[in-house]
Amino acid sequence: MATKKSDGDLKPRSATGLLKKDHKKVSALFSKWEESEDDTERATLMQQAILELKVHTALEEELFYPEVRKALEEDAELLDEAEEEHHVAKVLIEEIEEIGLEGDGAHAKFQVLAENVRHHIKEEEGEMFPKIEDEDFNAELVDQLMERKQALMSEVGEEMGMPLPSEGDAARPLGRA
Ligand SMILES: [Fe+2]
Ligand SMILES: [Fe+2]
Repeated sequence: MATKKSDGDLKPRSATGLLKKDHKKVSALFSKWEESEDDTERATLMQQAILELKVHTALEEELFYPEVRKALEEDAELLDEAEEEHHVAKVLIEEIEEIGLEGDGAHAKFQVLAENVRHHIKEEEGEMFPKIEDEDFNAELVDQLMERKQALMSEVGEEMGMPLPSEGDAARPLGRA
């Protein structure tokens, strides 16, 4: 049997590998949003990024951060700060959803969200992930994360009224359900 179909289907070898893949995907959506001048496309990109962020933050909070917290007992502040950054992202997302993707001020809030998330990704990849690269749980957690991610994608996608994007597909435009 073939072991891979495309790069997008390669199974990450570690929890941090899987999370970094998510980071790349959402960063690409932010960049596309910044470059786009088409309102419909921008709204679609916002919706996709918000779905990715909701799923990613839930994954980290449910499965990943608790393990990191155990492994890095002396770095509790690092985890506190990361959770606080998730909180800020969630508040912004709630406000954007309340206004509506094309409502007044939604774009300013989304820009701030993008900046907040980019900063957060930098800290995770620059400070947190290197500290746990050698921890056993980092390799063990990946299957659990993948499984939970799939469930969350359909759960949250449904809540948001979005069709489920196909796996490993970063850029397929989504129509409304
Ligand atoms: Fe992350
Ligand atoms: Fe995070």
